[in-house]
Amino acid sequence: MQIFTTISEVRAWRKENSHVAFVPTMGNLHAGHLQLVRQAKKHADKVIVSIFVNPTQFGINEDFSTYPRTEIRDCELLENENCDAVFLPSIETIYSPTAQTTVSVSEISQNFCGASRAGHFDGVATVVCKLFNIVQPDVALFGLKDFQQFAVIQTMVRDLHLPVELIGVPTVRESDGLAMSSRNGYLTESEREIAPQLYKTLQKARENLSTKTIFEIEKIAISELENTEFIVDYFKVARRSDLKFATENDGNLIILAAAKLGKTRLIDNL
Ligand code: PAJ
Repeated sequence: MQIFTTISEVRAWRKENSHVAFVPTMGNLHAGHLQLVRQAKKHADKVIVSIFVNPTQFGINEDFSTYPRTEIRDCELLENENCDAVFLPSIETIYSPTAQTTVSVSEISQNFCGASRAGHFDGVATVVCKLFNIVQPDVALFGLKDFQQFAVIQTMVRDLHLPVELIGVPTVRESDGLAMSSRNGYLTESEREIAPQLYKTLQKARENLSTKTIFEIEKIAISELENTEFIVDYFKVARRSDLKFATENDGNLIILAAAKLGKTRLIDNL
């Protein structure tokens, strides 16, 4: 497995390879990330993963400085998956001090995580656009756990005519249903026991769709979560196609949730 830190190394490697799949990550890899790498191998001859904790997608009071950085272990895990290359850029490589350009995907970034994390999706869209321009992949894979992120990137790719095929990969979960996330490591032992309740509440909400109104479903779910120590950021039924809040007449729905357990913010969807 080759490890690159500069743009010119990635570009030279890209020139040598005709069909490339790309998996952008912030590292601290778990089975969810590795599932993206496995899927990537099915879609291309070569797979490149980036590990970059992107400062611009973290708010001022968020966990940029404490976000787990485990590059050595990450590279071992990727080597075991027969990943072909890893891109580990420095902040200065991605963000020149004189940079003036931001990619902002307006409407689809507004609600849900975009509402509670100001500037988050501008940071995501900007870094993913830069990484796409550096790697120039044929295919890029993203997890559907971060469903709004996937929708933002799909919209950016469409609007900017970026020549890359996007593939969304279903959420990988722990055996008790908790969606795998690098942030799960922040949970205390007792919070970890409560955490699967988020997914259970989503499942219950889905069952309730046939018998209750959307308003009732959201209200029941929020009070259930708040009774088990969660501080709910949002629990919303939306249209899968455009992430607008759903009405009773809509089909093809997605239920999106974000909630805090102590200091840890968990997100999930169904
Ligand atoms: P990160 O949180 O490291 O996630 C990298 C990729 O792994 C994302 O596409 C995410 O959706 C996917 N992923 C995370 N947990 C998953 C799970 N349990 N099952 C399936 N896929 C999962 O998302 C980011 O980094 C960043 O925002 C990034 C896109 C790299 C831009 O900085």
